Amino acid sequence: MSALLRLSHVTKVYRQGGMLGRRLITAVRDVSFELGEEPEILSIVGESGSGKSTVAAMILGQTEPTEGELQFAGKTVAIHSRAERKAFMKEVQPVLQNPFEAFNPLKRVDRYLFETARNFSAGKRPDRQQAEKMADVALHHVGLTLEEVKGRFPHELSGGQLQRVAIARALIPQPRLLVADEPVSMVDASLRMAIVNLFGRLKNELGLSIIYITHDLATAYYVSDNIIIMRKGEIVERGRARAVLDDPQHEYSRALKDAVLAADFDAVA
Ligand SMILES: Nc1ncnc2c1ncn2[C@@H]1O[C@H](COP(=O)(O)OP(=O)(O)OP(=O)(O)O)[C@@H](O)[C@H]1O
Ligand SMILES: [Mg+2]
Repeated sequence: MSALLRLSHVTKVYRQGGMLGRRLITAVRDVSFELGEEPEILSIVGESGSGKSTVAAMILGQTEPTEGELQFAGKTVAIHSRAERKAFMKEVQPVLQNPFEAFNPLKRVDRYLFETARNFSAGKRPDRQQAEKMADVALHHVGLTLEEVKGRFPHELSGGQLQRVAIARALIPQPRLLVADEPVSMVDASLRMAIVNLFGRLKNELGLSIIYITHDLATAYYVSDNIIIMRKGEIVERGRARAVLDDPQHEYSRALKDAVLAADFDAVA
């Protein structure tokens, strides 16, 4: 069966304390899952240190698995040159946790969009006008316009706006997969839902698949088709999001859900 992304028995062992460090830590152990050809939002949830970002880094080709294999569109993910990286990033784009780290504070945000348009467009390099058009189209997909962000520096936008500009930038190469590692954890709670809703729209309108890594079970429940729950580097539970979160089978998933419900209760009380 064809799959957009397939992880087969992926394990990642880090050596802590640098090259000469002695302590080995298994950040991810024997993880297998796949995304089909149909657009899908898959959430990966788990406590701090459970291996979520390590999975993301392997999917993005930023680090290689110690064992196992990752395939994207039927090909093993292996990046050895700048050309390979660029070709891969045309298909798989990251969305980072902190949008303020994704942008140089001294550079106007529209410049990033134009540069990405020039770097990633197929065929002839777009001229200024075409690059502006591409930026504007991408910004529309995230509910902004070029007019609104033109000439602005990162600090002149809110965290939520800047995260949306970062997502617009990720859309410009017309990727098939976004890997968003805690994309809303730095965003005000009141704006989180707007960004998470945006993921649902991008899936439906652009046919994008999204891996959404989060601590936030509520948004994961709301937006994702499928969910994976990780603990200590392993997958402990997986399935349709509603089924897993309505009726968690694993003791850890239940504890995670109870913790979220208790926090919500505290917030209301
Ligand atoms: N570059 C690295 N070198 C050594 N150990 C690492 C490295 N990156 C991660 N680890 C270790 O691997 C384990 C998994 O880390 P990872 O960042 O994947 O977890 P996470 O689920 O993303 O956590 P968080 O929710 O805090 O972001 C942790 O024990 C971490 O200390
Ligand atoms: Mg992480």
